[in-house]
Formats: sequence, C-alpha cells, structure tokens
Amino acid sequence: SDGARSGWVDSKRGFISRDIFVDPAVYQRELEKLFTRAWLFVGHESQIPNPGDFFTSRMGEESVILCRDKKGEVHVFLNSCRHRGMKVCRYEQGNTSLFTCPYHSWTYATDGKLQGVPLYKSLYDGVLDRSEHSLIEVPRLVIYKSTVWASWDAEAPDFFTYLGDAKQHLDQALDCRDGREGGSEVIGVHKWVFPANWKFAAENFLGDTYHNPSHRSVDLIGIGPSAAAGVKGRRDDELAKAKHIWVSFPQGHGVHSAIAPENNEYVNSFVSNPEIEEYFRHCFEERKRRMGEQARLLPFTGTIFPNTSYHGRQPRGLCTWHPHSPTETEAWRFFLVDADAPAQVKEYLRHYYMRYSGPAGMTEQDDMENWLYATRASTGTIARRHPFNYQQSLHASTMNEHVPGKVSTQITEEMARGYYGAWDAYMHDAGWPRLLGQDAAQPAAAE
Ligand code: FES
Repeated sequence: SDGARSGWVDSKRGFISRDIFVDPAVYQRELEKLFTRAWLFVGHESQIPNPGDFFTSRMGEESVILCRDKKGEVHVFLNSCRHRGMKVCRYEQGNTSLFTCPYHSWTYATDGKLQGVPLYKSLYDGVLDRSEHSLIEVPRLVIYKSTVWASWDAEAPDFFTYLGDAKQHLDQALDCRDGREGGSEVIGVHKWVFPANWKFAAENFLGDTYHNPSHRSVDLIGIGPSAAAGVKGRRDDELAKAKHIWVSFPQGHGVHSAIAPENNEYVNSFVSNPEIEEYFRHCFEERKRRMGEQARLLPFTGTIFPNTSYHGRQPRGLCTWHPHSPTETEAWRFFLVDADAPAQVKEYLRHYYMRYSGPAGMTEQDDMENWLYATRASTGTIARRHPFNYQQSLHASTMNEHVPGKVSTQITEEMARGYYGAWDAYMHDAGWPRLLGQDAAQPAAAE
C-alpha cells in the first residue's frame, strides 16, 4: 500500500492510532506528503554572517546547504551533486568560495551555479548545459527576524499566512529580552539522535504541561537560572504568578503561553549572580516601557507545524526534530541569546542551557526516556491494536478575544488534536486552504 488510509486520527473523539508513530509506510508517506510541502526551519542568519558562509541543515531526511553567496544573498540548496548525487558539502559549517564535489570534482559557486566541470571541452562540449545543472534550490525561502525557513512546494502560501496567529508567540523567542524586534543570535547548536518517533518531541512542545511529573527529580534538585543552592524549580518564576493559556491554531501549530498580572513586577531569577540579574531586570523594565500592555504576554513553549519547536523563555531557543526513520529522530537545538548582550551574560546562559537542555541537560533526558519507551512499547502487534488517548479537556476550549486562536485556560490536549488533524490533512493530499484551516468543513481529497 502507499501508506494512506483513513482512521489514523480521530480528533473529534480524541483517539490516534499508534501506527502513525511506528509504521514504515506511514513514515515514508510523511516524507513525501508533509516534509515536501510544509515550511521548515533551516537555520539562523547569525550562523552565516559573511559571504561564503554555510551551514548544512536538513529538510526531512535530506541534507541541505544554507549558504550566503558572494553578493550576500541567502540560499538553501539540496546537498547533492547534479552528476551522480554525491554530497557536495561534507562539513557542518564553514566558509568557502566553491563547493567542490569529492566524487568527480564538479564545482558549484555559492549561488549554486555549476561552475567547473573537469575536462569539459573534450568530454562535454556542445552537450552539457551548465546553466541547467545548478544545485537544486528550494523554490520558497523566507528570512524572518534572522530565522531562515524554506518549503519545497512552489505553491505554498507565504510564510506569514502559514504561521498565522502563532506569530506573536514565536516572536517572543526571536525578539530581544528588552522587547526590541529580532536581534538574537545562535550561540551553539546541540545535535543528537534518539530512538523515538519525531512527533513525540513536536507534540511535547505543543503545550503538554501535563507531563510535568516527568521532571519531578529536576524540580527537587533545582536547576533554574539562579543556580543557587537550595533554590527549587527549573526556571525563573515570573510564570508562577501569570495566568497560563494553551492555544491551538488551525495550521496545526500549538503553544503554551502565559499572561502576567497587570502590575507585573520583576521577579529575581539570577540571585547568585548580581550582574546577570541586573541585565535581566533592565531588560524587563525596557520591555514593559516599549511594549506596554503587550509585555504581559509571556512566551513559554510551542511547536510550529510540523517539526520546529521553541522555548520562549530560558533556555531560549529553537528545536528541530529531523526524522531518520519511524523510530529514530535527530534533534537539533539552536540556543538563542540577545546578540548585543554582554559576553558574561551569554556565557552564563550557555552554561544554563547546557545543564537544562540537550543530550546532557537534565530535563531533556527525562523527556527522551518517555519518548523512546513510548515508541518502543507501541511497536508490538498487540499494542498497535489500541490507539492513544487524546481526550483531555475535549470540550473545555473557550475563545478569548484578547489572544487569537483556540484558547484554553486549563491544561488540554486540544493543541495535539489540532496538530494531528493538520497532519492527517497533509497525509491525504489536502489543498492549501484546508491545510491552513480556511475551509475545515471540506473533506481531504483522498480519503
Ligand atoms: Fe559530483 Fe560526479 S558526483 S562530480
């Protein structure tokens, strides 16, 4: 079979088949139907500041090169030679004037053009049209607040239509702590592979607050930004006084945010380090001054459909969940800081990010343990007869006029129901209006 069937996702009743997390045919269809159409995060401009800079990234299973050409233009190319397909770039990042294929030495300029073909005159003259053999480039690319996103679908809607109202939540991960728009930089990328389906991770960040018990040991020890002995918790506690909201968007995105009280005051978060505390106190006051009422919206976590998640507060960053197989995922965590923050602030945060997140970070280890055993325990013949349950707060969603989207004021799996509803539509070749949630009533094409 080609992997398509109905009955994977029952968003209305809140049941989802385990097959979508373990079945190789489903996985293959995801690569073909979903990763070739959705807007995917590929990297950050701060990783390629100068002409000739490149960072090799991924879109689905495929290697791509994020590159700044000689003129300063940003491109995303498939990392595969037009001759016999060899990877033309085998480094993770660097600077070059040419990508030279290791196999037979065709060379490509940083704008993708095929420049050199060994023995061209004697072997190819009058036959090979070099202008038609540039590196394959994504038809759609956007740079938003220094983040680079791409889609293989020439017909995809513009990125902002795709992002919809999730924009204001994602913004808070990308903007400076003092409320200035953009201005962030990547201070490092953690990359590691874990044996679980990629959707477990994406779903976790949609706002699965319910999994908090998984981090109980971390909460008892206390690894918040303060790093002070005896201070419990995982993060600063401005969130503790805020009203939490869980928001689902028709394009499949979901976030967990919070709204601070009207007379929001700075909460000491870095008590063991007065200089860092001073930086964040200053940022807090500036943000309030700059943004007014808007400053009450506190970023937390979210997933931009399908596989880009963010942490809006500390440890601030973007994560991509790259599929390797139905049961294996490569996680990339891009850690963000204000580009113009003092060096000691960046260094302090770098340490905090490492002990909180990534392969050696305490919270991520807890999460991965759940994802990998859930994946493993779902592969069995008997296990696969029984769907997962997504009924949490099934009828409890309420609309809130101040925050766009489907807003819930209690913990809910509504974001996951929305996410898998969108996933199902991609898997059944739905048109863009349906994928954007603009005509939810119309059934998908191939059900
Ligand atoms: Fe690249 Fe032959 S595969 S030059």
